[in-house]
Amino acid sequence: MLIKVRKPSDVLSSEITPRSVYLDRRRFLQTAAVAGAGAAVGSLPLAGLAATPGAGAKLEGVVKSPYSTGEEATSRESVTSYNNFYEFGTGKDDPAANAGQMKTRPWTVVVDGHVAKPGSYDIDDIFKAHRLEERIYRLRCVEAWSMVVPWVGIPMADFLKRVEPTGSARFVAFQTLLDPEQMPGQRRAVLDWPYVEGLRLDEAMNPLTLLGVGLYGEVMPNQNGAPIRLVTPWKYGFKSIKSIVRMTLTEEMPPTSWNKSQPREYGFYANVNPEVDHPRWSQKRERRIGEFLKRDTLKYNGYGEEVASLYADMNLAKWF
Ligand code: MTE
Repeated sequence: MLIKVRKPSDVLSSEITPRSVYLDRRRFLQTAAVAGAGAAVGSLPLAGLAATPGAGAKLEGVVKSPYSTGEEATSRESVTSYNNFYEFGTGKDDPAANAGQMKTRPWTVVVDGHVAKPGSYDIDDIFKAHRLEERIYRLRCVEAWSMVVPWVGIPMADFLKRVEPTGSARFVAFQTLLDPEQMPGQRRAVLDWPYVEGLRLDEAMNPLTLLGVGLYGEVMPNQNGAPIRLVTPWKYGFKSIKSIVRMTLTEEMPPTSWNKSQPREYGFYANVNPEVDHPRWSQKRERRIGEFLKRDTLKYNGYGEEVASLYADMNLAKWF
């Protein structure tokens, strides 16, 4: 696999840390020194210190990942303006138009269920305690379009190791913020709110699975699921639950929003599979955003080497 490394001359002017962010960072560092913030996370490396709540602030300490595809990334414009985030409307341009008002600080992620270390984890502590990686992944939507997204994220396995799932944990259930004041789409019963998703624990622990906190080297734009969302590149895009406020380790397979809404059309696993059509359309081909001709869809979205063993003994037509 190729890692795309950019030359300094490739850095866009919008990626250079603006002065206000730089000043915020200095203030943050001063406060952190006074509060001894490092103590809470022991000797773990501090990452993302430049991260202010604002979307578009540059993230620091981001390391490139060998899991990145060498394919050309979809334009930032498309990645941030062609979205599905029904809490802000069902049109592709609704999230970019309506999500800007969502407050992403303060923000906590509750971790409960079968874990040794349950609790309320502050998003800034999550940033500080974990390594941030840039992972350029293909994303294949169940609607038969695809993108290549340069995510910034925390390996999900790192986060799970920190909260220590117990022996009875078999699944992770995720939940999005429920707040119709901030999320106008939740005032209509398009889905049974809040949006929920789930992974089997071994899927969540797979090295490919990320908790996305940014893209294009910057803090996640609200419409893409700020401040923290799931990224599982071998599954259809709807598994990538956005704006997560709760993760519950469970023994039973948790409910998922699209499965509850249309059980015949959307299963729990949602692995990209050109051999299993959606009841209303084919999944054999896809349109890469920005390209004219369609291309063949690859099983597990091309990540079979990393994940096929997770499903070795399963009938994928039954467990779609
Ligand atoms: N998460 C929440 N909370 N609400 C949603 O409506 N849509 C899903 C998924 N996560 C959705 C969500 C769908 S259908 C897709 S294809 C991806 O987000 C789209 O992610 P993107 O807009 O960042 O490309």
